[in-house]
Amino acid sequence: MAVPASLTKNLRFPAVAAPMFLVSGPELVIATCKSGMIGTFPALNQRTSEGYAEWLNTIKAALGPDDAQYGVNLIVHNTNTRLMADLAITAQHKVPLVITSLGAVKDIVDGVHAYGGVVFHDVINARHAKKAADAGVDGLILVSAGAGGHAGSQHPFALINEIRQFFNGTILLSGAMSTGGDVAAALMAGADLAYMGTRFIATEEARAVEAYKEMLIETSAKDITYTDAISGINANFLTPSLIANGLDPAAAKDPHHKIDMAHELSSEAKAWKTIWSAGQGVGSIHEVMPVADLVSRLKTEFHTANEAFAAKVKLYGL
Ligand SMILES: Cc1cc2nc3c(=O)[nH]c(=O)nc-3n(C[C@H](O)[C@H](O)[C@H](O)COP(=O)(O)O)c2cc1C
Repeated sequence: MAVPASLTKNLRFPAVAAPMFLVSGPELVIATCKSGMIGTFPALNQRTSEGYAEWLNTIKAALGPDDAQYGVNLIVHNTNTRLMADLAITAQHKVPLVITSLGAVKDIVDGVHAYGGVVFHDVINARHAKKAADAGVDGLILVSAGAGGHAGSQHPFALINEIRQFFNGTILLSGAMSTGGDVAAALMAGADLAYMGTRFIATEEARAVEAYKEMLIETSAKDITYTDAISGINANFLTPSLIANGLDPAAAKDPHHKIDMAHELSSEAKAWKTIWSAGQGVGSIHEVMPVADLVSRLKTEFHTANEAFAAKVKLYGL
């Protein structure tokens, strides 16, 4: 129950800026690592493996000896034809953290361990967590209800408590965290690190278009639709962006009604470009800011929450 030593180097805030399709690029990763948090991006945000290698070069050239570590997300699925090429590039660059999604495969975990890297794997329930633990991952990212992207449907307390019973590695909690107080609460609940996505879309360094960032400011949890109609796997989307694309959010919520995206949008990448994903934590996002300012504010909020908690402990004589 700890964070591997290779990742705590220069880590000055216990959180990871999560990899986000079409949103996370080198600017976001570099700014995050320089602020003392772990920065990450999906390898598939570059169109080719060569492009992926270029981004790694850019990130490594920009990071200095005092910066926190970085990571990449690899989709482990037979439709990802780039997986083995991207894995070889990851190994060549000795990427400190690899976040695997969908499949937890022992050979891939072993390949990352062989060059000294760490593997964290995304899960939405205890069954997936057991499989990933068997594959030898170092950490599990518990993607709970209300998270941005492909979210789970289980409550974070239920997930942490069940998975901690059989897993001794690093636990990261993902889902609807927007403030430093949320990060403190995640650690209090038993997580080793918080995993924040949506909050980092509303930063100057994120590659999201301005209208997407504005929508995050204008919306709250009531404006999030959980549906599998866009990508076949349940994910959370900003309802106004569904409406703007001519989709009916009420129909999208009906599990028996599949929206036929084929006529409107030719590929999933195109879908995510115009139908914007966000977690239920949007209600706490009120401005777009530079990552450095955001992380500095998260730290202040973390301390405030900690002091408020200590006062409550004292109040009850516990
Ligand atoms: C726009 C968007 C794109 C995402 N794309 C990916 C992705 O490509 N790979 C991945 O592992 N997770 C992806 N996620 C999930 C995040 O890594 C993370 O689990 C989630 O954002 C955390 O919940 P939060 O957004 O409520 O903070 C995405 C999330 C969002 C909001």
